[in-house]
Amino acid sequence: MKPAELSVVLTGASGGIGSALAALLAEAGARVLLVGRRGERLARLAESLGADARRQRVQALAADITTAAGRTAIREIATVRGCNALINNAALPSFGPFADADAGHIEAVLQTNLVAPIQLTLALLPQLRTQPAARVLNIGSATGRLGVPGFAVYGAGKFGLRGFSETLRRELADTTVRVQYLGPRATRTGFNDERADRFNDRTRKAVDAPEIVAKAALKLLLSGKAEKFLGFPESIAVRVNGLAPSLLDRAFAPHRAALQPGAAAAEIQPPTTESQHV
Ligand SMILES: NC(=O)c1ccc[n+]([C@@H]2O[C@H](COP(=O)([O-])OP(=O)(O)OC[C@H]3O[C@@H](n4cnc5c(N)ncnc54)[C@H](OP(=O)(O)O)[C@@H]3O)[C@@H](O)[C@H]2O)c1
Repeated sequence: MKPAELSVVLTGASGGIGSALAALLAEAGARVLLVGRRGERLARLAESLGADARRQRVQALAADITTAAGRTAIREIATVRGCNALINNAALPSFGPFADADAGHIEAVLQTNLVAPIQLTLALLPQLRTQPAARVLNIGSATGRLGVPGFAVYGAGKFGLRGFSETLRRELADTTVRVQYLGPRATRTGFNDERADRFNDRTRKAVDAPEIVAKAALKLLLSGKAEKFLGFPESIAVRVNGLAPSLLDRAFAPHRAALQPGAAAAEIQPPTTESQHV
Protein backbone atom coordinates (compact mmCIF):
# COMPACT_ATOMS: atom_id res chain seq x y z
CA MET A 1 0.00 0.00 0.00
CA LYS A 2 1.05 3.62 -0.47
CA PRO A 3 0.65 6.19 2.36
CA ALA A 4 -1.83 8.27 0.36
CA GLU A 5 -4.10 5.20 0.04
CA LEU A 6 -4.40 4.83 3.82
CA SER A 7 -7.44 5.87 5.83
CA VAL A 8 -6.37 5.05 9.37
CA VAL A 9 -8.09 4.77 12.73
CA LEU A 10 -5.31 5.42 15.25
CA THR A 11 -6.09 4.77 18.92
CA GLY A 12 -3.90 6.36 21.58
CA ALA A 13 -3.24 9.24 19.18
CA SER A 14 -2.83 11.70 22.06
CA GLY A 15 0.11 9.74 23.50
CA GLY A 16 3.84 9.84 22.79
CA ILE A 17 4.06 7.18 20.07
CA GLY A 18 0.53 7.95 18.83
CA SER A 19 1.18 11.64 18.22
CA ALA A 20 4.50 10.91 16.46
CA LEU A 21 2.76 8.34 14.27
CA ALA A 22 -0.18 10.67 13.58
CA ALA A 23 2.26 13.34 12.39
CA LEU A 24 4.14 10.90 10.18
CA LEU A 25 0.93 9.52 8.64
CA ALA A 26 -0.52 12.98 8.00
CA GLU A 27 2.77 14.18 6.51
CA ALA A 28 2.86 11.15 4.21
CA GLY A 29 -0.63 11.97 2.89
CA ALA A 30 -2.71 9.41 4.82
CA ARG A 31 -6.16 10.20 6.20
CA VAL A 32 -6.19 9.78 9.98
CA LEU A 33 -8.91 9.53 12.62
CA LEU A 34 -7.23 10.39 15.92
CA VAL A 35 -8.77 8.54 18.87
CA GLY A 36 -8.20 9.01 22.60
CA ARG A 37 -10.17 9.96 25.69
CA ARG A 38 -8.74 13.48 26.12
CA GLY A 39 -10.69 15.44 23.51
CA GLU A 40 -8.93 18.78 23.97
CA ARG A 41 -5.53 17.23 23.53
CA LEU A 42 -6.68 15.46 20.37
CA ALA A 43 -8.25 18.63 18.99
CA ARG A 44 -4.94 20.48 19.53
CA LEU A 45 -3.06 17.68 17.81
CA ALA A 46 -5.50 17.68 14.86
CA GLU A 47 -5.08 21.44 14.57
CA SER A 48 -1.29 21.18 14.67
CA LEU A 49 -1.49 18.63 11.86
CA GLY A 50 -3.52 21.05 9.77
CA ALA A 51 -6.93 19.40 10.13
CA ASP A 52 -8.70 22.35 8.51
CA ALA A 53 -6.27 22.77 5.67
CA ARG A 54 -6.31 19.06 5.02
CA ARG A 55 -10.13 19.11 4.74
CA GLN A 56 -10.99 16.34 7.16
CA ARG A 57 -7.93 14.31 6.25
CA VAL A 58 -7.19 14.56 9.96
CA GLN A 59 -10.10 14.27 12.37
CA ALA A 60 -10.22 13.91 16.15
CA LEU A 61 -12.65 11.74 18.07
CA ALA A 62 -12.78 11.57 21.87
CA ALA A 63 -13.77 7.99 22.67
CA ASP A 64 -12.97 5.39 25.31
CA ILE A 65 -12.12 2.11 23.58
CA THR A 66 -13.09 0.08 26.65
CA THR A 67 -16.77 1.05 26.27
CA ALA A 68 -19.26 -0.26 23.72
CA ALA A 69 -20.43 3.33 23.11
CA GLY A 70 -16.86 4.44 22.38
CA ARG A 71 -16.30 1.60 19.92
CA THR A 72 -19.63 2.25 18.19
CA ALA A 73 -18.71 5.92 17.72
CA ILE A 74 -15.34 4.89 16.24
CA ARG A 75 -16.97 2.34 13.90
CA GLU A 76 -19.56 4.82 12.62
CA ILE A 77 -17.02 7.53 11.79
CA ALA A 78 -14.51 4.99 10.44
CA THR A 79 -17.16 3.70 8.02
CA VAL A 80 -18.01 7.20 6.76
CA ARG A 81 -14.27 7.84 6.28
CA GLY A 82 -13.74 4.62 4.30
CA CYS A 83 -11.24 3.31 6.84
CA ASN A 84 -8.82 0.66 5.57
CA ALA A 85 -6.40 0.49 8.53
CA LEU A 86 -6.87 0.12 12.27
CA ILE A 87 -3.87 0.80 14.49
CA ASN A 88 -4.51 -0.50 18.01
CA ASN A 89 -1.98 1.65 19.85
CA ALA A 90 -3.81 2.82 23.02
CA ALA A 91 -2.66 1.14 26.22
CA LEU A 92 -2.14 1.59 29.93
CA PRO A 93 1.22 0.98 31.61
CA SER A 94 1.75 -1.53 34.38
CA PHE A 95 5.07 -2.03 36.11
CA GLY A 96 6.22 -3.30 39.50
CA PRO A 97 6.47 -6.49 41.56
CA PHE A 98 3.41 -8.61 40.81
CA ALA A 99 2.83 -9.19 44.54
CA ASP A 100 2.03 -5.46 44.87
CA ALA A 101 -0.50 -5.44 42.00
CA ASP A 102 -3.97 -4.08 42.64
CA ALA A 103 -7.00 -6.09 41.44
CA GLY A 104 -8.72 -3.07 39.86
CA HIS A 105 -5.54 -2.06 38.06
CA ILE A 106 -5.10 -5.57 36.63
CA GLU A 107 -8.67 -5.44 35.31
CA ALA A 108 -8.19 -1.98 33.75
CA VAL A 109 -4.88 -2.90 32.08
CA LEU A 110 -6.18 -6.10 30.53
CA GLN A 111 -9.43 -4.44 29.42
CA THR A 112 -7.56 -1.57 27.74
CA ASN A 113 -4.55 -3.44 26.35
CA LEU A 114 -6.16 -6.70 25.27
CA VAL A 115 -9.96 -6.89 25.40
CA ALA A 116 -10.65 -3.47 23.85
CA PRO A 117 -8.32 -3.91 20.83
CA ILE A 118 -9.92 -7.30 20.16
CA GLN A 119 -13.41 -5.81 20.43
CA LEU A 120 -12.50 -2.82 18.26
CA THR A 121 -11.01 -5.11 15.61
CA LEU A 122 -14.28 -7.07 15.59
CA ALA A 123 -16.29 -3.86 15.27
CA LEU A 124 -14.22 -2.57 12.32
CA LEU A 125 -13.67 -5.86 10.51
CA PRO A 126 -16.80 -5.63 8.29
CA GLN A 127 -15.63 -2.19 7.10
CA LEU A 128 -12.03 -3.39 6.60
CA ARG A 129 -13.24 -6.38 4.58
CA THR A 130 -14.96 -4.10 2.06
CA GLN A 131 -11.55 -2.62 1.15
CA PRO A 132 -9.28 -3.90 -1.64
CA ALA A 133 -6.39 -3.88 0.86
CA ALA A 134 -6.61 -3.37 4.61
CA ARG A 135 -4.53 -3.59 7.78
CA VAL A 136 -4.94 -4.23 11.48
CA LEU A 137 -1.69 -3.17 13.15
CA ASN A 138 -1.43 -4.03 16.84
CA ILE A 139 1.18 -2.11 18.80
CA GLY A 140 2.56 -4.61 21.25
CA SER A 141 5.89 -4.71 23.02
CA ALA A 142 9.09 -6.71 23.33
CA THR A 143 7.49 -7.87 26.60
CA GLY A 144 4.78 -9.46 24.43
CA ARG A 145 7.25 -12.15 23.43
CA LEU A 146 9.80 -12.03 26.23
CA GLY A 147 8.67 -12.24 29.85
CA VAL A 148 10.52 -9.59 31.87
CA PRO A 149 10.25 -9.46 35.69
CA GLY A 150 8.19 -6.45 36.75
CA PHE A 151 5.89 -6.66 33.72
CA ALA A 152 3.70 -9.67 34.60
CA VAL A 153 0.34 -7.97 34.00
CA TYR A 154 1.49 -5.74 31.13
CA GLY A 155 3.28 -8.69 29.48
CA ALA A 156 0.17 -10.86 29.85
CA GLY A 157 -1.80 -8.28 27.85
CA LYS A 158 0.88 -7.88 25.18
CA PHE A 159 1.48 -11.67 24.89
CA GLY A 160 -2.30 -11.98 24.47
CA LEU A 161 -2.35 -9.28 21.81
CA ARG A 162 0.42 -11.06 19.93
CA GLY A 163 -1.47 -14.37 20.12
CA PHE A 164 -4.58 -12.63 18.81
CA SER A 165 -2.57 -11.03 15.97
CA GLU A 166 -0.93 -14.28 14.89
CA THR A 167 -4.18 -16.26 15.02
CA LEU A 168 -6.25 -13.67 13.17
CA ARG A 169 -3.48 -13.17 10.59
CA ARG A 170 -3.71 -16.88 9.74
CA GLU A 171 -7.51 -16.89 9.87
CA LEU A 172 -7.76 -13.94 7.45
CA ALA A 173 -4.91 -15.02 5.18
CA ASP A 174 -7.27 -15.52 2.23
CA THR A 175 -8.84 -12.07 2.62
CA THR A 176 -7.56 -8.57 1.85
CA VAL A 177 -6.97 -7.86 5.57
CA ARG A 178 -3.38 -8.20 6.86
CA VAL A 179 -2.99 -8.46 10.65
CA GLN A 180 0.32 -7.21 12.03
CA TYR A 181 2.16 -6.87 15.35
CA LEU A 182 4.87 -4.35 16.21
CA GLY A 183 6.98 -4.91 19.32
CA PRO A 184 8.79 -1.73 20.39
CA ARG A 185 11.33 -1.82 23.22
CA ALA A 186 11.35 0.87 25.95
CA THR A 187 10.39 4.21 24.40
CA ARG A 188 10.73 7.75 25.76
CA THR A 189 7.12 8.86 26.37
CA GLY A 190 4.98 9.66 29.39
CA PHE A 191 4.03 5.96 29.53
CA ASN A 192 6.83 4.96 31.89
CA ASP A 193 6.73 6.44 35.37
CA GLU A 194 9.85 7.31 37.37
CA ARG A 195 10.03 3.82 38.84
CA ALA A 196 9.98 2.20 35.38
CA ASP A 197 12.57 4.72 34.11
CA ARG A 198 14.84 3.85 37.07
CA PHE A 199 14.37 0.15 36.31
CA ASN A 200 15.35 0.73 32.67
CA ASP A 201 18.46 2.62 33.83
CA ARG A 202 19.40 -0.06 36.32
CA THR A 203 19.02 -2.86 33.80
CA ARG A 204 20.86 -0.77 31.20
CA LYS A 205 18.00 -0.88 28.73
CA ALA A 206 18.25 1.27 25.64
CA VAL A 207 15.31 3.64 25.23
CA ASP A 208 14.09 4.69 21.78
CA ALA A 209 12.56 7.99 20.71
CA PRO A 210 8.85 7.74 19.78
CA GLU A 211 9.71 8.88 16.23
CA ILE A 212 11.74 5.67 15.73
CA VAL A 213 8.72 3.58 16.67
CA ALA A 214 6.43 5.70 14.46
CA LYS A 215 8.73 5.18 11.45
CA ALA A 216 8.85 1.42 12.04
CA ALA A 217 5.04 1.30 12.39
CA LEU A 218 4.49 3.10 9.08
CA LYS A 219 7.05 0.90 7.33
CA LEU A 220 5.40 -2.26 8.67
CA LEU A 221 1.93 -1.00 7.73
CA LEU A 222 2.98 -0.31 4.14
CA SER A 223 4.87 -3.60 3.78
CA GLY A 224 1.99 -5.81 4.97
CA LYS A 225 4.54 -8.03 6.80
CA ALA A 226 3.43 -9.99 9.86
CA GLU A 227 5.53 -8.60 12.69
CA LYS A 228 8.58 -6.65 13.70
CA PHE A 229 10.47 -6.30 16.98
CA LEU A 230 12.61 -3.22 17.41
CA GLY A 231 16.15 -2.77 18.67
CA PHE A 232 19.22 -4.86 19.22
CA PRO A 233 19.61 -7.02 21.31
CA GLU A 234 15.84 -7.13 22.03
CA SER A 235 14.91 -8.34 18.54
CA ILE A 236 17.34 -11.28 18.92
CA ALA A 237 16.28 -12.01 22.51
CA VAL A 238 12.61 -12.37 21.53
CA ARG A 239 13.56 -14.92 18.89
CA VAL A 240 15.80 -16.95 21.22
CA ASN A 241 13.03 -16.79 23.81
CA GLY A 242 10.54 -18.13 21.25
CA LEU A 243 12.77 -21.14 20.52
CA ALA A 244 14.17 -21.96 23.97
CA PRO A 245 12.83 -19.73 26.76
CA SER A 246 14.60 -21.63 29.56
CA LEU A 247 17.96 -20.64 28.03
CA LEU A 248 17.21 -17.05 28.99
CA ASP A 249 15.80 -17.63 32.47
CA ARG A 250 19.15 -17.00 34.20
CA ALA A 251 19.61 -13.70 32.37
CA PHE A 252 16.98 -11.98 34.51
CA ALA A 253 18.81 -11.86 37.86
CA PRO A 254 19.67 -8.14 37.34
CA HIS A 255 16.01 -7.41 36.62
CA ARG A 256 14.91 -9.15 39.81
CA ALA A 257 17.52 -7.20 41.76
CA ALA A 258 16.41 -3.92 40.16
CA LEU A 259 12.84 -4.59 41.28
CA GLN A 260 13.86 -4.65 44.95
CA PRO A 261 13.01 -1.47 46.85
CA GLY A 262 16.04 0.77 47.22
CA ALA A 263 18.02 -0.98 44.50
CA ALA A 264 20.61 1.29 42.88
CA ALA A 265 22.60 0.88 39.71
CA ALA A 266 25.83 0.48 41.63
CA GLU A 267 24.40 -2.37 43.69
CA ILE A 268 23.50 -4.37 40.62
CA GLN A 269 26.02 -6.76 39.13
CA PRO A 270 27.09 -5.66 35.65
CA PRO A 271 25.19 -7.76 33.13
CA THR A 272 26.93 -10.95 32.05
CA THR A 273 27.26 -11.69 28.35
CA GLU A 274 24.12 -13.79 28.71
CA SER A 275 22.10 -11.08 30.45
CA GLN A 276 23.13 -8.49 27.88
CA HIS A 277 20.77 -10.27 25.53
CA VAL A 278 17.79 -8.78 27.33
N1 LIG B 1 6.57 3.82 25.98
C1 LIG B 1 7.12 2.61 26.01
O1 LIG B 1 8.15 2.37 26.68
C2 LIG B 1 6.51 1.50 25.18
C3 LIG B 1 7.31 0.37 24.92
C4 LIG B 1 6.77 -0.68 24.17
C5 LIG B 1 5.47 -0.60 23.71
N2 LIG B 1 4.72 0.51 23.99
C6 LIG B 1 3.34 0.53 23.49
O2 LIG B 1 3.19 1.63 22.60
C7 LIG B 1 1.84 2.10 22.64
C8 LIG B 1 1.81 3.60 22.86
O3 LIG B 1 2.46 3.89 24.07
P1 LIG B 1 2.99 5.35 24.47
O4 LIG B 1 4.34 5.17 25.02
O5 LIG B 1 2.76 6.28 23.37
O6 LIG B 1 2.01 5.66 25.70
P2 LIG B 1 1.25 7.01 26.13
O7 LIG B 1 2.03 8.20 25.74
O8 LIG B 1 0.89 6.83 27.57
O9 LIG B 1 -0.08 6.95 25.27
C9 LIG B 1 -1.11 6.02 25.56
C10 LIG B 1 -2.32 6.44 24.76
O10 LIG B 1 -3.41 5.52 25.02
C11 LIG B 1 -4.60 6.29 25.15
N3 LIG B 1 -5.58 5.53 25.93
C12 LIG B 1 -5.39 4.91 27.13
N4 LIG B 1 -6.54 4.34 27.54
C13 LIG B 1 -7.46 4.59 26.58
C14 LIG B 1 -8.84 4.27 26.44
N5 LIG B 1 -9.50 3.56 27.36
N6 LIG B 1 -9.50 4.69 25.32
C15 LIG B 1 -8.85 5.42 24.37
N7 LIG B 1 -7.54 5.75 24.45
C16 LIG B 1 -6.86 5.35 25.55
C17 LIG B 1 -4.14 7.57 25.85
O11 LIG B 1 -5.00 8.66 25.56
P3 LIG B 1 -6.06 9.26 26.60
O12 LIG B 1 -5.41 9.25 27.95
O13 LIG B 1 -6.35 10.62 26.04
O14 LIG B 1 -7.21 8.33 26.50
C18 LIG B 1 -2.83 7.83 25.11
O15 LIG B 1 -3.09 8.51 23.90
C19 LIG B 1 1.15 1.29 23.73
O16 LIG B 1 0.46 0.22 23.14
C20 LIG B 1 2.30 0.77 24.56
O17 LIG B 1 1.96 -0.42 25.23
C21 LIG B 1 5.21 1.57 24.70
